[in-house]
Amino acid sequence: MPDIFKTFRSFLIAGNVLGALHAAPVLAADEKAQDSKAAAASPAPAAPAADDEALLKRGADVALAADCMACHTTKNGKPFAGGLKIATPMGNVISTNITPDPEHGIGKYTEVQFDEAVRHGIRADGVNLYPVMPYVSYAGITDQDMKALYAWFMHRVQPVASTPPETALTFPANVRSAMKVWNMLATSETPETGDSMTFDTLRRGKYLANALEHCGTCHTPRNFMLGEKTDRYLGGAELAGWYAPNITSSKTGGIGDWSEDDIVSYLKTGQAHGRAQAAGSMGEVVSFSTSKLSDPDLHALAAYIKQVPALEDDVDHKPRDSFGQPMNDPDIRTDVPKRIDNLDQMSALQIFDDNCAACHGRNGAGTADHSVPSLFSNSAVGTARPDNLIMVILNGVDRKAGDHHAFMHGFNDKSQVERLSDAEIASLVNFLMEKFGSGSVNVTPEKVAEFRKQ
Ligand code: HEC
Ligand code: HEC
Ligand code: HEC
Repeated sequence: MPDIFKTFRSFLIAGNVLGALHAAPVLAADEKAQDSKAAAASPAPAAPAADDEALLKRGADVALAADCMACHTTKNGKPFAGGLKIATPMGNVISTNITPDPEHGIGKYTEVQFDEAVRHGIRADGVNLYPVMPYVSYAGITDQDMKALYAWFMHRVQPVASTPPETALTFPANVRSAMKVWNMLATSETPETGDSMTFDTLRRGKYLANALEHCGTCHTPRNFMLGEKTDRYLGGAELAGWYAPNITSSKTGGIGDWSEDDIVSYLKTGQAHGRAQAAGSMGEVVSFSTSKLSDPDLHALAAYIKQVPALEDDVDHKPRDSFGQPMNDPDIRTDVPKRIDNLDQMSALQIFDDNCAACHGRNGAGTADHSVPSLFSNSAVGTARPDNLIMVILNGVDRKAGDHHAFMHGFNDKSQVERLSDAEIASLVNFLMEKFGSGSVNVTPEKVAEFRKQ
């Protein structure tokens, strides 16, 4: 892959990790307001939508779910004032102030200019935005939802008079006009038409999945020009270190044996008991967006995902969550005694016993309330790709959904007593996949070192 495409790919991933989606459990907007061309013609702040409560409510819900906040607000910063640094290999892309302040924010944006920025990636001054701003997916947002989003930003967001530092990337990414070429090559969503709140279940699910949640950006592999491979839609793809699995309806390589409720539970809480948990970028998708969707929207999304045509997987030929059983207790007791004087010589079982068993149980069955999952019947361990298991051991789990905080510390931190070496992780992964998974991997310490660098 040419370097420039790699760069753009990493933009997309960086954008996705932070940016998720949309919800929109809202009142139907007033017909008249929708038809009003006035907002487009006049400078924003004076637009007549100011008192159209239904439209503003819809805009608020679109903004919440499309998660504009996640990228455009820093920790402890004012809402939408920008300044968040989003890491890419070419440097940090810094989000801008999108409050309606006329000098520092987007107060002077007309509705048309706002649309150009959000759905097409072109700033008011005609300059191309970096695709960290997920305009490729937002291109699928309906006109009506865009209008509501604009009205809400202009009338309900507090103006903030401050300008975040400017993005300065290294060559070739600093040449913003290069983005024009990329925009022609990347396939963006086709805009939906009509009122997204009145779509039937499958159409609503499709809208959520593609325009707002952009599931495919991570789960669909890309061709050499970075467009998503439409013939491998949701067929599974590599991310930075993580692997977004095949989530098509295949009963062997995908999630065809999951019920609609399993998918809803996974998206709402990050867990489908006895199947999978959401960590890494999927954990962020759940924390920032899908956990906030309404139940009807979650069911629409799940119903849509369930009917996505089955694609077989190159590597997984049996459901990933169908492997393993509790480990026998005696297994542990009869193992060689601990050599605490020489940790390098600990067996995989001892590494497990020392570092994992306190939470996941000595037999690997997790806790009865599922707050700590079992290591068997677990997609991260059952898949023949060790990527997610290695990444979870290195980085842990940190996900919030409702009042629940799913947290497991990682074993990567130098300052932590729990740090595991590359050799220890390799030996542990091979052991866990043999005991609780398909047993078909042989991970080397060198491979773990590569993942540690991600
Ligand atoms: C994944 C992170 C991310 C999400 C989610 C996101 N943005 Fe952005 N946005 C950015 C970044 C980064 C920039 C600046 C890009 C650049 O400098 O090229 C930007 C730029 C913009 C601009 C151009 C402003 C200017 O500088 O003139 C607008 C308008 C905008 N975003 C609106 C939105 C809205 C509305 C949403 C939600 C529907 C949203 N963004 C969601 C990251 C994001
Ligand atoms: C930012 C990238 C990203 C996005 C966007 C994303 N996913 Fe994921 N998804 C992942 C990763 C990575 C995993 C593996 C997580 C793990 O094992 O902890 C995953 C796992 C899953 C799983 C579990 C599959 C299994 O067998 O373990 C399901 C189901 C899923 N995603 C559905 C979705 C849906 C539906 C959407 C859109 C609403 C979506 N994902 C959006 C990255 C993403
Ligand atoms: C302090 C308790 C604790 C310890 C110690 C611990 N875990 Fe976890 N583990 C958790 C929790 C909590 C979760 C997340 C549950 C959830 O996602 O809802 C988790 C999740 C996981 C997952 C599923 C992640 C996914 O993406 O599907 C795996 C695999 C895992 N742990 C393996 C290990 C291994 C291997 C060790 C030892 C090196 C270990 N854990 C140590 C508490 C712990």
